[in-house]
Amino acid sequence: MIDSKEVVHNQAVEVEKKVKEKENSALDDEAAFEKELPKKRHLNVVFIGHVDAGKSTTGGQILFLSGQVDDRTIQKYEKEAKDKSRESWYMAYIMDTNEEERVKGKTVEVGRAHFETEMTRFTILDAPGHKSYVPNMISGASQADVGVLVISARKGEFETGYERGGQTREHVQLAKTLGVSKLLVVVNKMDDPTVNWSKERYDEIESKMTPFLKLSGYNVKKDVQFLPISGLIGTNMKTRVDKSVCSWWGGPCLFEALDATEIPQRDPKGPFRMPIIDKFKDMGTVVMGKVESGSVREGDSMVVMPNKAHVKVLAVFCDEDKVKRAGPGENVRVRLSGVEEEDILSGFVLSSISRPIPSVSEFEAQLQILELLDNAIFTAGYKAVLHIHAVVEECEIVELLQQIDPKTKKPMKRKVLFVKNGAFVVCRVQVNNLICIEKFSDFPQLGRFTLRTEGKTVAVGKVTGLNLSSA
Ligand code: GTP
Ligand code: MG
Repeated sequence: MIDSKEVVHNQAVEVEKKVKEKENSALDDEAAFEKELPKKRHLNVVFIGHVDAGKSTTGGQILFLSGQVDDRTIQKYEKEAKDKSRESWYMAYIMDTNEEERVKGKTVEVGRAHFETEMTRFTILDAPGHKSYVPNMISGASQADVGVLVISARKGEFETGYERGGQTREHVQLAKTLGVSKLLVVVNKMDDPTVNWSKERYDEIESKMTPFLKLSGYNVKKDVQFLPISGLIGTNMKTRVDKSVCSWWGGPCLFEALDATEIPQRDPKGPFRMPIIDKFKDMGTVVMGKVESGSVREGDSMVVMPNKAHVKVLAVFCDEDKVKRAGPGENVRVRLSGVEEEDILSGFVLSSISRPIPSVSEFEAQLQILELLDNAIFTAGYKAVLHIHAVVEECEIVELLQQIDPKTKKPMKRKVLFVKNGAFVVCRVQVNNLICIEKFSDFPQLGRFTLRTEGKTVAVGKVTGLNLSSA
């Protein structure tokens, strides 16, 4: 006869063994996860600022200084730039790769490049400064955590960029709304004969920019760092500027400042969220985007929202490399099976199955009105184009709910029917198609947006509520 206690005991031992095995394999998993994670942290940096401030030149110089562009290529670009009567543009040609950009000397598409410092792998996103291409700038900024705001110190250029209608202001406000939490303000063209590394000019720019940055919501002490550079010559970029060139600067160079920027850590174990910015066919359907929350690994089952397409992850690529797993903040390409490329639109979100991203056609938001066209008034019925992460959709304001006192940040008592420039207002917004968004308080990156009309940014906002019954 078998002692039943013995059996129970044996079973208990078996169970314990199984639990241990599971724990060990979980530990192995964790260890594998650690191993798979690249040792260096990764940051996306967007270059923003007024047209011709020197964003592409500075980006190109970074690649040159980090040894990714050889002298021969530079000589080739020098010749090409000269042939196009754009002598000084040769450094910008490293980032501006298409013919239109080179002929006109203006970035159109967001340029993308990679470089590394001691501590960090960077993806640089070189946004266009021209006002016609603000939507491209928005897509660049929405992928970044850190911004390099390039300002030209050349006589007259800082002024034009900073004026109303200049892109210095618009870009700062957009960057803040789109989740760029840290800014390096580089005062560029310090070598220019009208500047000649003048401390006075540098101080003037810093003192004019500071109150504006504060007004835009940046904590200047914590989140902003100013520094002087020459992008064209490469001064104060990889190494600190020589005292013989600039006696008064005792702060960091650009590489040091970038290396020292800290951004809030996102949860690699959170629900998976990756807004799709682009897609193509390549042995399956490949989607591109930035992981905003959670992690993705080969073999995962996921869902593409809002069309609820169930997919399997065949492969994950980070930069050029195939990786086993990628976490928040990474720009990735994910190869999927189970969905056709035609069935995905940019703005769709690759999402975990257990906690998929909500999709709605109506939401509540707090808006700040920046500049309405011809000083129009903002009322129910106002139509605009909504930009939220990779989504671009026509929208309509269906109701103004409350006006907020900009000073006290408290709701004002009286009923609100219309507001003007500068107002803060809570309203209901509708779109025609389902969009995947989150409340700002849950996922800031997926809950902040801009409203644009006729190519101009008229308002920036945060999602405060989702109308889930509108799905
Ligand atoms: P968009 O892409 O059109 O917004 O312009 P950008 O900000 O990328 O400017 P880009 O790098 O194309 O440079 C514009 C002009 O400024 C070119 O003629 C550059 O040579 C010049 N430039 C850029 N950086 C410097 C600098 O540090 N010193 C001087 N002297 N000129 C510079
Ligand atoms: Mg450019």
